[in-house]
Amino acid sequence: MKITVLNGSPRKQNTTFMVDAFVAGAEEAGHTVEVIQVGKMKIAGCMGCEYCHGKGEGQCVQKDDMEKVYPAYKDCDMIVFASPIYYFTMTAQIQAAIQRMYSIMNLPKAEKAALLLSSMSPDVYDGAIGEYKGILGFMGIEDAGIITAKDPENGSEELRQKIYDFAKAL
Ligand SMILES: Cc1cc2nc3c(=O)[nH]c(=O)nc-3n(C[C@H](O)[C@H](O)[C@H](O)COP(=O)(O)O)c2cc1C
Repeated sequence: MKITVLNGSPRKQNTTFMVDAFVAGAEEAGHTVEVIQVGKMKIAGCMGCEYCHGKGEGQCVQKDDMEKVYPAYKDCDMIVFASPIYYFTMTAQIQAAIQRMYSIMNLPKAEKAALLLSSMSPDVYDGAIGEYKGILGFMGIEDAGIITAKDPENGSEELRQKIYDFAKAL
């Protein structure tokens, strides 16, 4: 499978630890993985101008780092959303990359998805999981798994192994 991972963290710590474990397991299983560091990119929010659904014929009128994400969206068999929890949901950076999918409406090839979340506190995942499940339902994509980890487990060997095994079994 060709797997696209969106890493919504603006820094290289807990979420990236989870992403790295995922990549290692998935590559061990023979999958091709592309990680896109959307947390560090400049991606503006959707303007709702509808250019993409008219004159733009699927192209967004805004030209920014989203240009690097669209090809990976169009070509992936699986999409993985990875994000820290910021105020009970995913980061603004990954939200922008998700909402800018509007120009293509759907991931044409993706059949599976997964969600990796890192947080400070327990029980803070409902917002992110609700959004994730909503998107999957809308796009007809199967959930392969949701892995959440709070501090300090989000940097532990146990978690690394759990995510590695999960990805290797895909
Ligand atoms: C702006 C901001 C908002 C946050 N909001 C929450 C929150 O609502 N709940 C929570 O448990 N942790 C919250 N955190 C903590 C992060 O989710 C946590 O430290 C996470 O592991 C960071 O991941 P990272 O190392 O990949 O950046 C917040 C951190 C920041 C910077």
